[in-house]
Amino acid sequence: MAICEILTYPDPALREIAQTVDNPQSESVRQLVQDLADSMYDAPGVGLAAPQIGVFLRVVVTDTRWREEDGIRDLHVWINPEISHFEGEVVFEEGCLSVPGIYEDIKRASAITLSWSDQDGSRHEANFNDFQAVALQHEFDHLVGKLFIDLLPPIKQKLLKKRLQKRKKQALTG
Ligand code: NI
Repeated sequence: MAICEILTYPDPALREIAQTVDNPQSESVRQLVQDLADSMYDAPGVGLAAPQIGVFLRVVVTDTRWREEDGIRDLHVWINPEISHFEGEVVFEEGCLSVPGIYEDIKRASAITLSWSDQDGSRHEANFNDFQAVALQHEFDHLVGKLFIDLLPPIKQKLLKKRLQKRKKQALTG
């Protein structure tokens, strides 16, 4: 079991583009999935993308239910995910383990069609909606160096980023 440090804004690593996984069945990917799951449950969060622990591969774990259902775990692993269709609109209040303490209403597609590989290397396709669709869009954004605060209106975004940068500086110096 390895609980990894989760990188926080404005760490430049959060802006890196993750690479496609060549072999989902490899031991290194199995270990990465384990580390992501351990770190997500420890945080605690409902999703974690590999770049958030400084690994630039297209791997995400989610469990959007465990905190509501008496701690019963329902881990999902998404390797090389691709969203092929976006539909509708929904607003959810989002937060992120890489932007601690900030919660903002964010507008995203309410339904998505998604393909991904599992840990055996098989490819799947399915539709997701509402909270699950939102959580997956949020996590997959991390694979292209994007954070939920980038989706805020420009003025709000500018103020918030300024505040977060100041906070980080204080944490480093004080
Ligand atoms: Ni996040």
